[in-house]
Amino acid sequence: MNAGGHGDDPADGWFPESVAAGYDAPGGSNAPDVVAPAVEVLAELADGPVLELAVGTGRIAAPLAARGVPVSGIELSRAMAARIADKPGGADVAVTIGDMTTTRVPGEFSLVYLVFNTIGNVTTQDGQVEVFRNAAEHLRPGGLFLVEVGLPDLRRLPPGQDVVPFALAPRPDGGGYLGFDQYDVTTQELTSTHVTVSADGTGSLRRMPFRYVWPSELDLMARIAGMRPKYRWADWDRSPLTAECTRHVSVWEKVAAP
Ligand SMILES: C[S@@+](CC[C@H](N)C(=O)[O-])C[C@H]1O[C@@H](n2cnc3c(N)ncnc32)[C@H](O)[C@@H]1O
Repeated sequence: MNAGGHGDDPADGWFPESVAAGYDAPGGSNAPDVVAPAVEVLAELADGPVLELAVGTGRIAAPLAARGVPVSGIELSRAMAARIADKPGGADVAVTIGDMTTTRVPGEFSLVYLVFNTIGNVTTQDGQVEVFRNAAEHLRPGGLFLVEVGLPDLRRLPPGQDVVPFALAPRPDGGGYLGFDQYDVTTQELTSTHVTVSADGTGSLRRMPFRYVWPSELDLMARIAGMRPKYRWADWDRSPLTAECTRHVSVWEKVAAP
């Protein structure tokens, strides 16, 4: 279920115009202290052209291009991609509209990256395997594939419960925001539910499907695609992953052909 907006193009998937219009709101994932550390790491790993899978509105790609890194991007949603060129550096990002499981762009890349949990937007194991395969096909030997994704929050699920709340933000005007994740531990389906209520009592309910995936399964997908683990960090600060971490930044290296 997606509240959606009039005029949304179904081809834009879960990120049509009505979502894209609010995606670049200040703060949250757009805050400079969230964007800058990611751009810093990506710029350090880049050793030539880079490719962002699911580049969105250029939140990360545009500032990376502004640093002089040649950036290409693949993106499903025209509504999201239309916003890239408006950002500093964005006009230099070469965007191809398409599905990251299959779309091939010209060139050979030093780094392919897929951030902000977006591997989970591909909701089948076969599809996620194809993302890894496609990433590897864009890499030169020794090139790197980086994924940033949350760790499944199953430790917060008591027996008999399948919902984990992640936000409860009432506002003084009577409105507010509620967020829940619902897990199916038999299928690795994860559905995020966002409830937004306005002061007048009207509101919207938006549900988005994901496939959650463990680091070990990602390692296996990388191996299938001819890559091997290179780094695994808890965050963009390159701190080590521990049992208390909520997400990880992992990097695999394309194995040179024998
Ligand atoms: C959470 S946003 C992340 C955008 C951007 N990478 C960022 O960090 O801000 C997820 C993006 O993935 C795109 N997307 C989802 N599935 C895709 C697919 N199979 N191929 C290409 N893009 C996809 C969506 O349209 C959306 O723009």
